[in-house]
Amino acid sequence: MDDQPTFDPTQDPKVQRVIRKLRIPPDAPGEDKQVAPLFPGFEFDVRLVSGITPIERDEPLDFWIDRPDGMRGWIINLTIEGCGRVFDGPESFTVEPGDLLLFPPGARHFYGRDRKAAKWWHRWIYFQPRAFWKPWLEWGTQVQGIHLQRHRDERTFSELFRLFIEVDNWSDLSDNLSTDLAFNRLEQILLTCARSDRAANAAKTVIDERVLAACALISENLDKPLGVKDIARQVCLSPSRLSHLFRHYIGTGVVQWRDAQRVQYAIQLLRVTNVPIKSLSQMVGYDDPLYFSRVFRRHTGMSPRTFRDHSLGRIEPASPPETLPSALQD
Ligand code: FCB
Repeated sequence: MDDQPTFDPTQDPKVQRVIRKLRIPPDAPGEDKQVAPLFPGFEFDVRLVSGITPIERDEPLDFWIDRPDGMRGWIINLTIEGCGRVFDGPESFTVEPGDLLLFPPGARHFYGRDRKAAKWWHRWIYFQPRAFWKPWLEWGTQVQGIHLQRHRDERTFSELFRLFIEVDNWSDLSDNLSTDLAFNRLEQILLTCARSDRAANAAKTVIDERVLAACALISENLDKPLGVKDIARQVCLSPSRLSHLFRHYIGTGVVQWRDAQRVQYAIQLLRVTNVPIKSLSQMVGYDDPLYFSRVFRRHTGMSPRTFRDHSLGRIEPASPPETLPSALQD
């Protein structure tokens, strides 16, 4: 994983393997980890799945990816070769090597190989973001709810390319720390994008300092019963003004954000400690463990106990939750 690949996207290590597999139809494509997600009908995991879709003219993947209601999670998509087209009609646009697309949950997916190009290879990552990533998931350029950035310079493109490969490599391994490393590389991708977006839209992205103070206060007091009124008082705003500014800059409500932070903290505690759920619920600010379980389930789709069993490998992962985690429902 320490090897720095020489930058030549056509040498993407996975592409040839995927193309070969596609040419020999597998006996049970639904079970092949590398190609199953490339076809309609695949159930996406709750946290992170990544892959590469090497579309070549008239080959098995040469169809339009059409999901009118989008997906439950987010998708980030990097073109590495050829040319893709997103949407049809007057709003349609093309993407080329170095271009990134970010699809929020529920945003329409309608894309495929641009008819003029012989191929469109893209790498993608499907993920449920950590709550504090929210401010980085808003880019200045959007078309019908799809965020777009173009990184045609070789330096940024090769850096993004390397990070996508690392996410893919780490996410292939099933232990918790490897998953954390995949998330860590994804976080680097999103930070790189947020940074360049901020440079391009400097004036728009200065977050009100009272909102930042509110975030810091929440993060430092996850175990305390802090409500909107207390937070507002401490940052010298009225509760309604704080709620308004918070939604404007962070994109979600104060309590929702606080709960999402608590759930993230609970996730870490569940994975790395054996603190009983009752005490754990108090450590993350809930006196009532039943209420904590309800909040936790709303965010992750499972109870704290089931989550702990999953992460310790005691039970097989279930299918993803039917409802969107509430942190993403805004
Ligand atoms: C694959 C597509 C890819 C991405 C993932 C989630 O089937 O090829 O672009 O949408 O699904």
